[in-house]
Amino acid sequence: MAIIDGKKLSNTIKEELKVEVDRLLAQGQRAPHLTAVLVGNNPASEAYMANKVRSCEKVGFTHELIRRPTEITQQDLLQLVEELNKDEKVDGFIVQLPLPDHLDPEAVLLAIDPSNDVDGFHPFNFGCMAQGLESFLPATPYGILIMLERYKIETSGKHAVIIGRSNIVGTPLSILLSRKAKVGNATVTLVHSRTTDIKAICRSADILISAIGKPFFVTADMVKEGAIVIDVGINRIDDLSRKSGSRLVGDVDFEKVAEKASFITPVPGGVGPMTVAALMMNTVKAYKRKFPEKS
Ligand code: GUN
Repeated sequence: MAIIDGKKLSNTIKEELKVEVDRLLAQGQRAPHLTAVLVGNNPASEAYMANKVRSCEKVGFTHELIRRPTEITQQDLLQLVEELNKDEKVDGFIVQLPLPDHLDPEAVLLAIDPSNDVDGFHPFNFGCMAQGLESFLPATPYGILIMLERYKIETSGKHAVIIGRSNIVGTPLSILLSRKAKVGNATVTLVHSRTTDIKAICRSADILISAIGKPFFVTADMVKEGAIVIDVGINRIDDLSRKSGSRLVGDVDFEKVAEKASFITPVPGGVGPMTVAALMMNTVKAYKRKFPEKS
């Protein structure tokens, strides 16, 4: 069994991006700029945001974190999105999810200009992705594709089983892995809460990806010997042996599943850091679309 070290790989990618940003600066251009909007102070969102800010600094982007109180109205948030759409110094921006209950995330995502949508969540980008057209790929699926590519994991002709059909992970990943592309050409099964006999389907997976958000959902009896296991879950569970009283785990019963898998991603340190690396890659892409280099 080999561990897929997402933290290390994401650092490598960020170092590569830093070289690219330094090259742009040496040519007299400005650095790419990423803005993030955080509404309220959800602890998980705060932690993700701190990671994104650190990563911007590491790759040499300029960046801004715009905080708004939980009570912000839909109208005021949409107005902020409109202002960011028009702001020339912003190459890409994200609105951190989840939003407080009184806000409509679909309307907010729809208001983001697709050329600024470095999360790849806008339906325009989703549609382009689904048709294999040039687009921003959603950051978590994109991070997983990079992981598979850099670890030279063959996907062509393999059976990939994805657990969970969210708009930001499961559904786009099912499209991407079945595309006719370098990392693609897999036969994909997307399983969800209404699927009968999830266990049997998972047991036939060459590549098993869990994005369901339930701790220890994937047990060793669901995994084929030698399978590749990618854990997208980030779940906080009680752990009184820790000073904080809790710890982060994925969807996979890591210790037992690791004994059967050929490759496995840990939590933390697997998919999470790759999502941030993919966001950084999308931001450079947004910048380059805006300032195309003469060849
Ligand atoms: N919340 C959890 N993950 C993400 C992400 O990748 N982007 C945004 N905008 N919100 C999130």
